[in-house]
Amino acid sequence: MTAPMTSLAAYLAEQEKKSLLRFLTCGSVDDGKSTLIGRLLYDSKLLFEDHLAALEKDSKKHGTTGEDIDFALLVDGLEAEREQGITIDVAYRFFATDRRKFIVADTPGHEQYTRNMATGASNSELAVILIDARKGVLTQTRRHAYIASLLGIRHVVLAINKIDLVEFSQGVFNEIVADFGEFAKKLHFASLAPIPISARFGDNVISKSEHTPWYTGPTLLQHLETVDVETELGGKPFRLPVQWVNRPNLDFRGFSGTIVSGRIKSGDDVVVAKSGRRSTVKRIVTMDGDLDEGLPGEAVTLTLADEIDISRGDLLSAPTARPEVSDQFSAHLLWMSEDEMLPGRQYLLKIGARTVPVSISELKHKVDVNTLDHMAGKTLALNEVGYGNISAAQPIAFDAYAENRDTGGFILIDRFTNTTVAAGMIDFGLRRATNVHWQALDVNKSLRAETKGQKPAVLWFTGLSGSGKSTIANLVEGALFAQGRHTYLLDGDNVRHGLNRDLGFTDVDRVENIRRVAEAARLFVDAGLIVLVSFISPFRSERRMARELLGSGEFIEVFVDTPIDVCMERDPKGLYRKARDGEIKNFTGIDSPYEAPESADLTLLTVESDPATLAEKVVDYLRARELIP
Ligand code: ADX
Repeated sequence: MTAPMTSLAAYLAEQEKKSLLRFLTCGSVDDGKSTLIGRLLYDSKLLFEDHLAALEKDSKKHGTTGEDIDFALLVDGLEAEREQGITIDVAYRFFATDRRKFIVADTPGHEQYTRNMATGASNSELAVILIDARKGVLTQTRRHAYIASLLGIRHVVLAINKIDLVEFSQGVFNEIVADFGEFAKKLHFASLAPIPISARFGDNVISKSEHTPWYTGPTLLQHLETVDVETELGGKPFRLPVQWVNRPNLDFRGFSGTIVSGRIKSGDDVVVAKSGRRSTVKRIVTMDGDLDEGLPGEAVTLTLADEIDISRGDLLSAPTARPEVSDQFSAHLLWMSEDEMLPGRQYLLKIGARTVPVSISELKHKVDVNTLDHMAGKTLALNEVGYGNISAAQPIAFDAYAENRDTGGFILIDRFTNTTVAAGMIDFGLRRATNVHWQALDVNKSLRAETKGQKPAVLWFTGLSGSGKSTIANLVEGALFAQGRHTYLLDGDNVRHGLNRDLGFTDVDRVENIRRVAEAARLFVDAGLIVLVSFISPFRSERRMARELLGSGEFIEVFVDTPIDVCMERDPKGLYRKARDGEIKNFTGIDSPYEAPESADLTLLTVESDPATLAEKVVDYLRARELIP
């Protein structure tokens, strides 16, 4: 065991030489993860004296183990967690023995925190999956094993804990090992080590237990110290996601980032994956001077022999082993949000240093974590795993996740809440769209619009059913038509009879409804028309998608603002009555949400003015914006 640290510098120098194992612990609530990590830290004597004193004091106050030291208190840092008796975030701990150093990610076990587990797993080489010997393999255990494998973990320790509570029974141990082994067969781990332990009393954690003479394998620590998890990042093709372009003055232009795989020397050729431009490395600059060779994990700044166009988010790569470049690919998704995944909705995808808008174009299947069977499904709920196609607004450079976790893994971010909603693992690029190119046409939008004496745009009317959208849009179109303008009105009810007749009113269908009508509106704008869209379009996300689909200034959001009680009173189609009587499900404003615009270009208050006045206001707006003469 390593002595308590005296001088930090000496200590760090000594640690430098040892190999590093990153692992995570996962298990259900109360399986004893925190206790186990505490035991590893405590028994490898890496705790500061004062830390220990505080622990003894705290144990008396909060502990659940009577007069013993409660190791869980060591790792459960937050007061709130102590009060709930659970761990709620990923906590990284560092410890070392004479043979190896370790970074352990302690991740919470209860279901809604799969997100934290994925965070911990994505940079770990090994997972310690805890099982309560009394409970055996649970759904949670299978979920953790599956997620670990999905995130590229190839080595697993099955820590069968609380073995003391089943009288150190070999029979119980064997049964759990067989049960888990059956499931894990499908996950193809490179190593799987079952170990009977008692985190609380230390059996088989650091030293061999006298209570399990039937167990002949290594203790947990022995296994962690010796297991071969060689990842050989250095042997993989060179990849450097450019975090920023470093240009302090005219004489220096360097590309900074962390090498995620491969090695690089000055004189080596590199290629910008997306553009295909090549150059040769001149210098490898770091904070501590130039390097002869850059290795994975090192933060470097490369200078190149040629002035080629490179910006933040580009992926510098080995020219002989280039990553794929595509705007469509298939991937596994681990959904981490309370809001279900909606195909067609735009999310932001972040991969390496690059962020692009994407949508999930098709979910191929979901995965049942208990059986690993594929199930049909259109959406994903919290903690569900699915496989599908993703379509990006611009091409990205990537490797398959199985080849490279850094260049094949991504996260999806909700555009409004800015929260991470999914972790993704790219499988492969889709070729089907690669031979479809934009065709340049001689007669274009501006020519078409010019002959019509107008600037094309979309007036996007949004509002509750019965708010007056269609009535006002109809009057606006009439007025424009009378002035000789060229228009087209896309009305929700009408479009739902044709183009969108296959769609209903679930969130998924409404997203697709708006995607299609936005695409249709774009075509009409391209034809030079002033387009009026009258759809409830209840979600901000899709209205924003429509705005982004069009050119700047071409999307005019008109909020037909009518309070719901007024709509219900008007009830022009008798639908509110039916919805209230339960005859219609998912009715907007009743049991399906309406997200009012936050900054509409025009807001029409129908309670204060009559439709004709409001229609005039819209026409005046178009004139003021010089879209019509
Ligand atoms: S949207 O939400 O997908 O934009 P859209 O504007 O196409 O809706 O269609 C709304 C029209 O469909 C309403 O004006 C109403 O006549 C009809 N309708 C039928 N069922 C529903 C429902 N459950 N929710 C809202 N509108 C419905």
